[in-house]
Parts: sequence; structure tokens; C-alpha cells
Amino acid sequence: MIVRKTMGRVKSMLVLLMVLLFTFASYNLVTMIMEHKPGGLGADGLESLNRKVMEKSNLKFHVAVTATDAAYNQWQCRIMYYWYKKMKDLPGSDMGKFTRILHSGRTDQLMDEIPTFVVDPLPEGLDKGYIVLNRPWAFVQWLEKADIQEEYILMAEPDHIFVNPLPNLAYETLPAAYHFFYIKPAKNEKIIRKFYPEEKGPVTDVDPIGNSPVIIQKSLLEEIAPTWVNISLKMKDDPETDKAFGWVLEMYAYAVASALHGVKHNLRKDFMLQPPWDLHVENKFIIHYTYGCDYNLKGELTYGKIGEWRFDKRSYLLGPPPKNLSLPPPGVPESVVRLVKMVNEATANIPEWDSINRS
Ligand SMILES: *[C@@H]1O[C@H](CO)[C@@H](O)[C@H](O)[C@H]1NC(C)=O
Ligand SMILES: *[C@@H]1O[C@H](CO)[C@@H](O)[C@H](O)[C@H]1NC(C)=O
Repeated sequence: MIVRKTMGRVKSMLVLLMVLLFTFASYNLVTMIMEHKPGGLGADGLESLNRKVMEKSNLKFHVAVTATDAAYNQWQCRIMYYWYKKMKDLPGSDMGKFTRILHSGRTDQLMDEIPTFVVDPLPEGLDKGYIVLNRPWAFVQWLEKADIQEEYILMAEPDHIFVNPLPNLAYETLPAAYHFFYIKPAKNEKIIRKFYPEEKGPVTDVDPIGNSPVIIQKSLLEEIAPTWVNISLKMKDDPETDKAFGWVLEMYAYAVASALHGVKHNLRKDFMLQPPWDLHVENKFIIHYTYGCDYNLKGELTYGKIGEWRFDKRSYLLGPPPKNLSLPPPGVPESVVRLVKMVNEATANIPEWDSINRS
């Protein structure tokens, strides 16, 4: 009898506790959603939102990298996947599974090494030689056909290296993106307006981003991706736009497509660093090695001029970089040293590094 009474009391206390917890949780949710309103985020609000994102978000995201079967893409994917595996289970990571979305339409020799989903390239001629136009189409096919368990997706690229465990930087319908200084929708208003007409809203609705890196809810990306295909093809088809946007056309296409769906992104400076411009890794998450790193032996940057010491992915268009690249001379920024060390670690440990991917 007494036992039962005590049990009853414990039970009702538990229920009360749960109600309190629930109220607390939904209060937090409401404040967060209020703070999310586009345009309503000051620097302070943003900082506190980012803190909350870090504290609250525990939903895993799927790492998806679009690639071709060219040797140049293959060696980058191998290094990327190596570092993904090393970071995935460290504290702070929300990284889920990994897929290389291979848009060459056929398998390659890395199928056993890297989880891969093969999709079709765009129909012959549609990309007009601009191969990255295949990316949006690859995402559309993958989202449609693959069994993806995670609720969020990270859109990544082969020249990304995870340098710290990556948390889910998105929060519900607010995706996270990296602010690219060279994507300037407002400065290109005349062109942007061809695809984002005035009645849709101000040109500032279009974020200064590309599709990668972005962490976004899968359901949102499913809405945006088909529009992204259309916009990128339309942009490529329009000579003025093609000329103005050049090699970043498909980035603008994603920025416009997401704006057309009313989606704004939380711009995260710590999402990525780009040597040689960013000097330190600090607490950032992804090294993007798209720029050549050229230095003289005094450790001075000679950007645009071949350096006495250099690391440039474009030196290895036809096959993988050799193992044990020489480290930069003293005085070169930590970010560059770190990059080369990470490349060296990967190439030292990936089986059959030299033999597998010569094209
Ligand atoms: C893409 O364009 C095609 C042809 O113009 C059109 O039929 C289709 O509805 C468009 N889809 C989206 C999502 O915009
Ligand atoms: C890597 O190269 C350095 C010289 O640049 C050499 O001293 C070192 O022994 C090499 N390490 C391996 C594992 O080959």
C-alpha cells in the first residue's frame, strides 16, 4: 500500500518534471524561431543563435560530395574521405554517413574504398563544357533515388578537408553556408533580376554563397535542387550571364534558387578556411584548397607567380600528388603547413596511393 502510494507520487513527480522540461524546451524553441526571422538578426543575435545551434543541434547530417571519375577528382575524394573517417566520431561531430555522388554515369575503381552513388551526367551537350553544371542534376537524382537516413545534408566538394569535427551548423529550416567574398548579388543586380524578378523581393534576398559548403535540411534541398538545375541551365544559356558569372555561375544559380524558395542561410565564417588567404586554422572546420599556395624560400607569398615552394592542386591534374610532399619553408602561415601535413598523412596511410588512380 505504502509502496504503491510512493510509486504513485514518484510517477506524478516524473510527469510534472516532464511537463516542465517540455515547457522549457518549447520556450527555447520559440525564442530561437523568433530570433531567426530573416533580417532580424543583429551581430549579437547571430552570435547567440550560433551558440544555441551548437548546444542544441544533435541531428546528424549526411556528407555528400559530387565528383567525376577523373583522376584529379579521385585523389581529392580519397584524401577527403580519409579525413572524414578520422573526424566523424570525435566529440563535437554531427557527421553522419558519407556519399560520393559520382556523376560520370558509371562506376570507377574506388567503389570499394569510398561509399559511392552513381548518377547520370546531364544529357550530352547540355553542360556546354562547364562540367560543374552536373552538380545540381547529380543532387536531384541522388535525393530522388538514394536511401538517406539523415535529416540534414552537407554539400561538400572534393577539395575539402575536415580539419575539425564538424557539428550540424544548420538549425531546422535555417541552413548554414559560407560567405564567399566574390559572390556579390547586389553588385550584379541587373543580371540577378533576370532570374529573381523584382516582385520576388529585394536582391539582398540572394545570399552571397554557393551550394558548398552548405548544411541544409534534406526536405528543403529536395525543393531547391530542381530549381537549381533549371536556373543554372538558364544562366548558362544566357550569354550575358554566362560571361559575367563565368566559373562561379553554378554558385549564383544555387544562391538564386534558394532565394526563390524563400530560404536564407546563416553565414558562418568558421565553416571553412581558404589558404593561403586565411592564415590560421583555429576553430574552423573545413580547409578548402582551391587556391594555389606559392611562396619564396623566405616564406613570402608570391601569389600568381610560381613559387620556389608551392602546393597547388592543379599541379596534379592527371594523377595524385606524390607521398611526403616537402613542407613549406619557415614563415609560411600555419594554415598552409597544416594543409600539406594533412595531405601527407592521408597519402601515407591510404593503401595503394600511387598506383590506383592514374588516368
Ligand atoms: C524546370 O524547367 C522546365 C522546362 O522549362 C519546367 O517544365 C519545370 O517545371 C521547371 N522545374 C522547376 C522546378 O522549376
Ligand atoms: C619525407 O621527406 C623528408 C625530406 O623532405 C625525409 O627526411 C623523410 O625521411 C621522408 N619521410 C618518409 C616517410 O619518406
